[in-house]
Amino acid sequence: MEITKNIHSVGVVDSDVRIFHGYQTPLGTTYNAYLVIDEKITLIDYVKASFAEEFLKNIKDVLGDRDIDYIICNHVEPDHSGALPLINEHYPKAKIYGTAACEKGLRAYYRGIDFEFCTVKLGDTLCTGEKTFSFVPMPMVHWPDSMATYLTNDKILFSNDAFGQHIGTGVVYDDDMTTEELVERCGNYYANIVLPFGMQVKKLAGAISDFKIELICPSHGVMLKSAIPLIVEKYIFWSEGRVVDKKLAIIYDSMWGTTTKMAKNLCREYLEMGFDVDVIDLSLVHYSEAMSRLLECSHIFVGSSTLNNCMLPTVSAFLCYMKGLKPKHRVGMAFGSYGWSGESIRDVEEILTGCGFEMLPQKKAQWNI
Ligand code: FEO
Repeated sequence: MEITKNIHSVGVVDSDVRIFHGYQTPLGTTYNAYLVIDEKITLIDYVKASFAEEFLKNIKDVLGDRDIDYIICNHVEPDHSGALPLINEHYPKAKIYGTAACEKGLRAYYRGIDFEFCTVKLGDTLCTGEKTFSFVPMPMVHWPDSMATYLTNDKILFSNDAFGQHIGTGVVYDDDMTTEELVERCGNYYANIVLPFGMQVKKLAGAISDFKIELICPSHGVMLKSAIPLIVEKYIFWSEGRVVDKKLAIIYDSMWGTTTKMAKNLCREYLEMGFDVDVIDLSLVHYSEAMSRLLECSHIFVGSSTLNNCMLPTVSAFLCYMKGLKPKHRVGMAFGSYGWSGESIRDVEEILTGCGFEMLPQKKAQWNI
C-alpha cells in the first residue's frame, strides 16, 4: 500500500497472535515495515520470521527486480528483525543502518549471516537522492538498540515500538477508529511495554520536539495523523508517572468467595468516598489487561486468599509482572482471606511495598465476613 508518494507500507498483519511474550493481544497485531523509493531504495525494518515470505512478496510487488540499497533497522527484537536472513539472501548488497547496540544484537542473534552494517548516532543522516533520513536513537524505549528515524522531506517519523499499539484488525490510520479506542490501545501498549522507561520517553519527546511531524509510522498498529498531538501528550503524561487522583484498581483472586466479598466491600467504601473504582478479578482477566487498566490509577489494592501458605498463582503472576513494569507514585493496600495461616496478605504487602507504593493498612479476614 502506497501511504504517500513513493513510500509504501510492506509489513504484515498477524491477526491470530493472542499472547505476545506474556502480553495478551486480543486484537492481534501488525509488524509494520516501509519501503522508501528514491534514487536509492530504502527498507525500514523487517517483520517476524514466520511472515518472512509474505514480507518478501510485499517488497517484490513494489520493487520488481530492483535492488534494495539500504535497510534501516530500528530495533533488533525478532518481531522487527526476524526476516533478516531471507531478506539478506535476496538483497545481499543492502547496507544496514542502526545503532551500535543494534549491530551487536544483530550479529549475535543472526550468527553466520554476513551483512554490511553502518552504525549511526543522534543527528546522523542518510541521503538517498532527494530524501534525507535523520536518526534518533532512543535507548531503552524499550531496548538498548531502539531507534526512531525521521524522514525530513515527508515529515514522517518511523517510531518503531514507540507510539505503537497491538491492533491487527486491518485498520490502517488513527482516523479509522474512535479516539477512545485509540487511546485505550496506546495505553494498553504503553502500560505493558514502555512503562518502565519514562525518563527515556521524555528524552525521546525532547529529541523529536524540533521536528515537524505530519505522520507517525510505528512498527505495530495504526499510523497516526490527526491524533499525533493527543498521543504525544498522553505519552508525556504517562512518562512523568502522573496518575488520575482518586482512581482505584482493586485487583484480586479468591478461593471460596471471601476475598471477592472483601473486594466488593472495598469497592463500595471507596465509591462512597468519591473514587472511580475498577474491580478486576484475575480469574477472569489476564494480568496484562489488569496492567493496562491500572495505568492511570492513583490507588492499587491487591487481594489474595492464602493457598498452601502462599498467595494464589494468578495474583503472584500479576505482581511479578507489575513489579517489572515499575508503576510509580501509587497508594497500595494488601487484602485477603485465609483459614489458618494467612501468609498471602503479608506477601502481597511485601511486594507492593517493594514497588515503592505508599501503603494503607492491610485488611485480613479469617474464613468469612
Ligand atoms: Fe515490537 Fe520491541 O518489539
